[in-house]
Amino acid sequence: MAKNWTPDGWKAFEAKHLPKYEDPAVLEAAEKTLATYPPLVFAGEARALQAELAEVCHGRGFLLQGGDCAESFAEFHPNNIRDTFRVLLQMAVVLTFASKQPVVKVGRMAGQFAKPRSAPTESQGEMELPSYFGDIINGIEFQPDSRMNDPQRMIRAYSQAAATLNLLRAFAGGGYANLRQVHQWTLEFMGRSPWAEKFKDIADRIGEALDFMEACGIDPKTVPQLQATSFYTSHEALLLPYEEALTRQDSLTGEWYDTSAHMLWIGDRTRFEGSAHVEYLRGVGNPIGMKCGPSLEPDALLQMLDTLNPGRVPGRMTLISRFGHDKVEAGLPRLVRAVQREGHPVVWSCDPMHGNIIKSESGLKTRPFDRILSEVKGFFAVHRAEGTHAGGIHIEMTGQDVTECTGGAVAITDEALSSRYRTHCDPRLNAAQSLELSFLLAEMLNLEAEQRRAAAA
Ligand code: TRP
Ligand code: MN
Repeated sequence: MAKNWTPDGWKAFEAKHLPKYEDPAVLEAAEKTLATYPPLVFAGEARALQAELAEVCHGRGFLLQGGDCAESFAEFHPNNIRDTFRVLLQMAVVLTFASKQPVVKVGRMAGQFAKPRSAPTESQGEMELPSYFGDIINGIEFQPDSRMNDPQRMIRAYSQAAATLNLLRAFAGGGYANLRQVHQWTLEFMGRSPWAEKFKDIADRIGEALDFMEACGIDPKTVPQLQATSFYTSHEALLLPYEEALTRQDSLTGEWYDTSAHMLWIGDRTRFEGSAHVEYLRGVGNPIGMKCGPSLEPDALLQMLDTLNPGRVPGRMTLISRFGHDKVEAGLPRLVRAVQREGHPVVWSCDPMHGNIIKSESGLKTRPFDRILSEVKGFFAVHRAEGTHAGGIHIEMTGQDVTECTGGAVAITDEALSSRYRTHCDPRLNAAQSLELSFLLAEMLNLEAEQRRAAAA
């Protein structure tokens, strides 16, 4: 257990990107209410995820983490949850089938509400208002009252997270994720993508493998792993009052856990020496992710790892690199080497989204799909060269047929962006682009396996 740590100890440290609330009494009331609510996850589940990630650390498995940039109250709908879950399942099937390795499935879901912003205010015409910080803090409408920080929003976010998680658990365990359903997961509009045909191909082969095994007496009834999957939740641990209110002591081990999600990550803007966010996360037993951008020096990274994982527990730390397509091959190797040299066990995951944001000609924020693919390729190339395992992917995506990132096999043009641009924050991969990416990942994982076999021979 972490030394000299309490759930509210972060308050004595420097906190960036935390909202100021007008009335401290209203904040306190909301925190008190949340503190009496049931935990959303159980500590044992967080440990199970950590054990799965420990396998990835050792080169056996791949982490698939994805979902909205920011969840919103407005887009809260069972179909949206189902469609995102379904695309993650499709991606997991492609990756598992191609690489013959287990895939750890983690949603950016059921709690991904708070956003750090580069500017504290936003101007439109003559009017200047506070920026939008995510639905758990204020509203996206450009109106003075909507942009006020409201602690009551934390209660609503909790309820939405609870309902989302409930549905995800039902899908994961209740039959929807049964491998016998693999054909049913295909979304209608994906028929336009050439990758839909490739997916059908894999689905056929899985069906055939299941038929064969069933004839041998192995079926979903005898082997429950065929009809259910483990699905975990995660979000950026940004809004510390919310995380603190959901921090609970595990009755089995006495350890503290952040029960708002299975896995939490710390963003590029809140990870620095002496940060309140680092202080908070160091004391909870959940698996922790850390975003690593071009500004991170190897020494600072090692210091963070010593603080967050002094016991060097495999599966505790996932490093999520986000360099940009043109910087990853130059910037990532020094971090990988430093971590290797010190012997810190980590999962290396690739966030190909956040370093590749551009403003399109129409003025909308977008991410060209070919730059996303190019960062993924660069990430795998670095790990091949360093002899380390490219262990995961972290993406902003949705199961909806949105037009937010340009490119892809069903090419989205600059002009088409505005037709279905719905994100509350950063542009997401749509369902077809996500599936397309999974085929590239499968190819990359096979290259890595080939290299390993050659090295062993
Ligand atoms: N339980 C296994 C797993 O999660 C197999 C499995 C069942 C699966 N349903 C799935 C794999 C859906 C991917 C997608 O890996
Ligand atoms: Mn984002």
